[in-house]
Amino acid sequence: MRGMASAGHILSVSYTPVYSVILGRRGRFSQNCICRTRSQRLCTYFQKHNQHTLPVRQHLSPLFSVAPMMDWTDNHYRTLARLISKHAWLYTEMVAAETIVHQTENLDRFLAYRPEQHPIVLQIGGNKLDRLARATELASPYGYDEINLNCGCPSSKVAGHGCFGVSLMLEPKLVAEAMSVIAANCDVPVSVKCRIGVDDHDSYNELCDFISEVSSKSPTKHFIIHSRKALLNGISPADNRKIPPLKYEFYYALLRDFPDLMFTINGGIKSIDEVNAARREGAHGVMVGRAAYNTPWHALGLVDTAVYGAPQSGLTRRQVLEQYQAYGDSVLGKQGNSRPNIRDIVKPTLGLFHSAPGNGLWKRKADEAFRRCTTVKSFFEETLDAIPDWVLDETLEETPSSTVETFANSKIDVGDVKFSWEMPSK
Ligand SMILES: Cc1cc2nc3c(=O)[nH]c(=O)nc-3n(C[C@H](O)[C@H](O)[C@H](O)COP(=O)(O)O)c2cc1C
Repeated sequence: MRGMASAGHILSVSYTPVYSVILGRRGRFSQNCICRTRSQRLCTYFQKHNQHTLPVRQHLSPLFSVAPMMDWTDNHYRTLARLISKHAWLYTEMVAAETIVHQTENLDRFLAYRPEQHPIVLQIGGNKLDRLARATELASPYGYDEINLNCGCPSSKVAGHGCFGVSLMLEPKLVAEAMSVIAANCDVPVSVKCRIGVDDHDSYNELCDFISEVSSKSPTKHFIIHSRKALLNGISPADNRKIPPLKYEFYYALLRDFPDLMFTINGGIKSIDEVNAARREGAHGVMVGRAAYNTPWHALGLVDTAVYGAPQSGLTRRQVLEQYQAYGDSVLGKQGNSRPNIRDIVKPTLGLFHSAPGNGLWKRKADEAFRRCTTVKSFFEETLDAIPDWVLDETLEETPSSTVETFANSKIDVGDVKFSWEMPSK
């Protein structure tokens, strides 16, 4: 797609992402830390590609990340999210390794992104080692900051018939091999996103066996834990994100039992107060999915200040939409077959005024405007008068943190004996 960074562009604009996490100590997600070894390896990577004079771009640690969500966290959404938060880590939708391998003529469509989207993580799906290796190799020049393997998707298309996604949790050896070939074909950190169990394989010890096997037999040191199990009994993926109960106690037990690994907590976290509450209890990083999509202003607007302690962008929703509109019109129809269309581009913005005055009227006007408007600019001009000026022009204020207790009782017995594990020496 024109306007998107192609592989060559990514290299020529000189982004050298540095994964800013030091392993090996508790509380290691401190800001501004740089993993020297990784940094050196990245320098070597760019030197190999004749990029000798690149300024180093350093990202803050993944204290907060936006979850990978198929059909949701596309380039458009990520562009909007980045306008609202400069520091949140953004995950792509899952891209199947198979797709990457079979679309070598068309890689930009699946892998290109704008450089502002750093820090950005590519999530891939698959279980065939040769495909995962090749897909990672093909994705590597796009300069993602981390490569993540999906071990949590319960969709029957993905997990059914022992395929990939969450079924991989039943094959820790294979995951370790997969992560080793992924790591061997890229020069950035690799991570796994998984559930806490599958069907009856839901004991804490089984989860520990999975983490232990994968982390000791591959370079994986970062796990994102969607803190509910998956049911492969035919319930829909949406129900699989609602019905199995959240068990944050499994997450906190992992923090206790694997002190040399990094764990990001995920599942059911909706507000910045909850993000900070999870971190107060020791979470290394917090990943937010649906709330970051459905209510982007409230879920992302305070990330930079309240999570990272960094200055706020100070943008109002009017200014965010002005910048987003310029992006939208620059990519409108550029993929061919009239895609992306106005609806594709406007869709991520539809949660921006959630629960604000005028939101209902704006949505009704949007339905009409989708049929008529030929530019993103005209879409917003026709519809935004539904929203009062003060809403469009207000900035988010950090309010004193409320006393969210969601995670306070999560350090309880998880039903198995304490798992004892030590990082193997290399
Ligand atoms: C529409 C949608 C698509 C999703 N697609 C993916 C995906 O591609 N890969 C993945 O690992 N998880 C996927 N998920 C799961 C989310 O990443 C996340 O784990 C889940 O929604 C729980 O987090 P939340 O309660 O903050 O939403 C998806 C979730 C939704 C709602």
